[in-house]
Amino acid sequence: MRIGKIEIDRPVILAPMEDVTDRAFRQLCKRHGADIVYTEFVSAEAIRRGAEKSIRKLAIADHERPVAVQIFGSTVESMVEAAAIAESYEPDYLDINFGCPVKKVAGRGAGAALLREPEKLSAIASAVARAVSIPVTAKTRIGWDHDSINITETVRRLEDAGMQAVAVHGRTRSDMYKGRADWARIAEAKAACSIPVIANGDVWNEDDAVAMFAQTGADGIMIGRGSIGNPFIFARAVSLVRHGVRLPSPTYRERIGAALEHLRLSVEYKGEKYGVIEMRRHYSTYLKGLPGVSKVRNELVRELDLNAIERQLREFEERCESLEREGRLTESGEFLNDHSPKLILNYQPTTNPSITV
Ligand SMILES: Cc1cc2nc3c(=O)[nH]c(=O)nc-3n(C[C@H](O)[C@H](O)[C@H](O)COP(=O)(O)O)c2cc1C
Repeated sequence: MRIGKIEIDRPVILAPMEDVTDRAFRQLCKRHGADIVYTEFVSAEAIRRGAEKSIRKLAIADHERPVAVQIFGSTVESMVEAAAIAESYEPDYLDINFGCPVKKVAGRGAGAALLREPEKLSAIASAVARAVSIPVTAKTRIGWDHDSINITETVRRLEDAGMQAVAVHGRTRSDMYKGRADWARIAEAKAACSIPVIANGDVWNEDDAVAMFAQTGADGIMIGRGSIGNPFIFARAVSLVRHGVRLPSPTYRERIGAALEHLRLSVEYKGEKYGVIEMRRHYSTYLKGLPGVSKVRNELVRELDLNAIERQLREFEERCESLEREGRLTESGEFLNDHSPKLILNYQPTTNPSITV
């Protein structure tokens, strides 16, 4: 797949996700094999006003490359102005959001709302493409609702407007995130245009990645929710898609390690206080299914001190190691005995041998 100077065979891409794909998470996913990463969407109006929080989201680092900045807006003027400002932060390309279903975006005429205003969608896409010298792409949904699926028309419009690729999430706006993404509609989009199509929606593991390429004929795929707490999905998908090699499941040590890595990156970019607070919502996904996870999570989310959190995570790892030594936990984090959670939480191998059941 080629976008400007970027050329990657069947890339596996980190999807833009508000409040998730910040610099820390992008770097983490990059380290774990994502071929291209996207920023969170940034409001064109807010960029134009110089709103500090939004401007900060435009900042990217060289080690993230290739990286795309995504913007959304409802008018040609705001989008053209914001595009020029975003370009000055030197992303590899700029992406326009024509798919966001949430009220604060679509309710204000931006994101997926533009699927109901095709002329305006074309006008915004072509004006932005003309306004910057870097490549411009778009990300969209298959339609507003099931009575108005118009993805083939939309991708043709986007191609005519000068978009260099289009990412298609196989749901309508009214689906929000319900049901299964419709990969057959993505295949129709691929057949309807000659720019690269990036398929998106419901890739949760490497087998889904292979299936999505096969069923859609897309040039690249994009993973969103499946990467949260699971950056390993990128290397695993790349390996199976491009080399036919299935990588082993991440071990519990690697999962705890990834949580630590994410935490440190978060603190590096946001400072100790905000970095630590932002990480709180991620622990349960990194540690999902491991014995005693709710207890350790409850401790982690109360702590503000980075060193204390690191210590708690290491102690949790040590507890997992003792369970592994006893044959009660596999390397991949599968708990073998049917102990009640209470017993697991209170598990003290040296001081309380009665709890071994
Ligand atoms: C928390 C969250 C935030 C999102 N933010 C954005 C966004 O900023 N821009 C965008 O184009 N899509 C956004 N999306 C949609 C995803 O990029 C993606 O299209 C969708 O989650 C389907 O892919 P998945 O099944 O791999 O998650 C968001 C999704 C989630 C779950």
